[in-house]
Amino acid sequence: MSIRILKTGSVATLLLAGAFSMAAWAVHSAQDGPAAPAPGDDIVILDFKPGMDDLMTMIVQPRHIKMYYAAQEQNWLLARFQLNELRAAFMRVAQTIPEFGIFPVEPSLEAAIYPALDEMDAAILTNDSAEFERAYVTLTASCNACHEAMGFSFLVMKVPEGDVPADYIDQDFRSQGAQ
Ligand code: HEC
Repeated sequence: MSIRILKTGSVATLLLAGAFSMAAWAVHSAQDGPAAPAPGDDIVILDFKPGMDDLMTMIVQPRHIKMYYAAQEQNWLLARFQLNELRAAFMRVAQTIPEFGIFPVEPSLEAAIYPALDEMDAAILTNDSAEFERAYVTLTASCNACHEAMGFSFLVMKVPEGDVPADYIDQDFRSQGAQ
């Protein structure tokens, strides 16, 4: 089975390839039911390079949310884990996108968010909800400061309200271990 990796040189080519394979799949499945890949069929792996917006949505925003709900349950172990995930996510952002427009990303993160992450770490170690809340407000303001500095002042993060979002109802934010 050969694997073909398409480079993102031409978006049009990719879209065309996608439309074509969807059409081929529709015809095939209409005739024969669900299609199983035959030996020798090409698997097309698109060369997906996530953008800043993708990384924010996929690896940054969820940790910002989950850390909050862990702390609401005073689950400081999970809150600290999520904070480390958030820190690692920002490092991966810098590795994946060294420059965003005119902005070098690593120095921007150092200026905009790393101090607030350190503050958050100290706050979580106190196991104190009020300390956490204060640091979370600072952290969230830092997210917004960077959005504003990079020309996205309409992207406004806030302290979550209400119950755990539906996307995360399968995660137990109270539990300290498997039950
Ligand atoms: C280094 C600067 C920087 C920091 C720090 C930063 N962001 Fe962002 N964020 C951006 C930029 C720039 C965009 C817009 C990217 C684009 O349009 O490709 C963005 C976009 C977003 C989006 C919108 C994505 C979408 O497609 O809807 C969310 C959500 C987001 N950031 C969450 C956060 C959170 C939460 C934090 C803090 C924990 C944070 N960001 C910290 C620069 C930053």
